[in-house]
Amino acid sequence: PRVTIVGAGRVGSTLAQRIAEKNLADVVLLDIVEGMPQGLALDLTEAKGIELHNRQIIGTNNYADTSGSQIVVITAGLPRKPGMSRDDLLKTNAKIVVEAAKKAIAHSPNAIFIVVTNPLDVMTYLAWQATGLPRDRIMGMAGVLDSARFETFIALELGVLPADVKAMVLGSHGDLMVPLSRYATVNGIPITELLDAATIERLVERTRNGGAEIVELMQTGGAFFAPASATSVMVESILLNQSRLLPVAAYLQGEYKLADIVIGVPCRLGCGGIESILQLNLTDGEKAALQASAQSVRKNIDRAQE
Ligand code: NAI
Repeated sequence: PRVTIVGAGRVGSTLAQRIAEKNLADVVLLDIVEGMPQGLALDLTEAKGIELHNRQIIGTNNYADTSGSQIVVITAGLPRKPGMSRDDLLKTNAKIVVEAAKKAIAHSPNAIFIVVTNPLDVMTYLAWQATGLPRDRIMGMAGVLDSARFETFIALELGVLPADVKAMVLGSHGDLMVPLSRYATVNGIPITELLDAATIERLVERTRNGGAEIVELMQTGGAFFAPASATSVMVESILLNQSRLLPVAAYLQGEYKLADIVIGVPCRLGCGGIESILQLNLTDGEKAALQASAQSVRKNIDRAQE
C-alpha cells in the first residue's frame, strides 16, 4: 500500500518515518517547498538498511506522484506561534487544506483522507466539502492525541505505566474538548477510585492546554512526535483493518443530536475508513460540553467561508 502525506513539515516528516519504520506502507511526502521533501525522502531512505524495513519513500512537489494512494494525510499549513489559538490559523490553512484535498483526490479517488492541519475540526469539514467524499472516508486526527496526553498526565500523577492507562477525549480539538474522566481507567480500575476530583480536574485542564504547553516551551512551532504517533495509529488501524475503537473527528448526521458538523466521537476504524460511530450515553454535563464544542466549530466553519 501507499500513503501520501501532504505537508512534509515536522508532523508530516515524522509520520513518514513512523509509517515506514513500522513497515506499514510506502510513503509519498509532498510539499510546496522545492527540494525539501526530496531531501527528507533521501534521508529516510538512507536509514532503511539500519532500521531494517524495505518501504519506498518518495519526496515530491507534484501531485501526479501521489496517484493510487490508499490513504492521504493532510498536514499542510501553518502551525501555531506562542500566544496564538488554533483558530487564528483559520483562513490561511483553509485555503491550503482545500487546495491540497482537491488535488490529492483527483489522483487518488479511492483514498481515505485523514486531516491533521489545525484548526482540526473545521479543516476536516472543509476537506469533506471540497472532496465530496462519503463521510466514512474522511476524518480528522485529534482525539487520539488528546487522549494520549490525558493518559500521560494520569500515568505521571499515579506513577504507573502509560500503556496501562486508557482514556478517551471527545469533542473539538481545542479549549472545548471533552475528556471523559469517568470512563478513564488504569487496567480497568476507574481513575475516580484512585484520584480525587480536584486532581482529575487539574489533569483535564492540563490536557486541554496540552498543545499550548508545548508551543510555549518550544517557541518555534508545536508538538509533532505525539501527533505523528497518534496519526500513525489511525493509518495502521485502516491499513491492517484492525477495527480499533478510537476517538476520531467525524462528520455527524444526527449522532449525539449533532448534524452537518465535524467533531471527535468514538469510531471503529477499518479498511473502509470509519466503519461505525459509537453512541455513548453521556451525562447532561458531557452533552452540554459536546454541544458547546460543536457550536464553536460551526462558528469557525462559517468564518472560514466568509
Ligand atoms: P510545519 O510548518 O513543520 O509543516 C507544515 C508544512 O506544510 C511545511 O513544510 C509547509 O511548506 C507545508 N505547506 C504549506 N502550504 C502547503 C501547500 N499549499 N501544499 C503543500 N504543503 C504546504 O508544521 P507542523 O508542525 O508539521 O504542523 C502542521 C499542521 O498540523 C499545523 O496546522 C498544526 O497546527 C497541525 N497540528 C495538528 C495536530 C492535531 O492534533 N490535529 C497536532 C499537531 C499539529
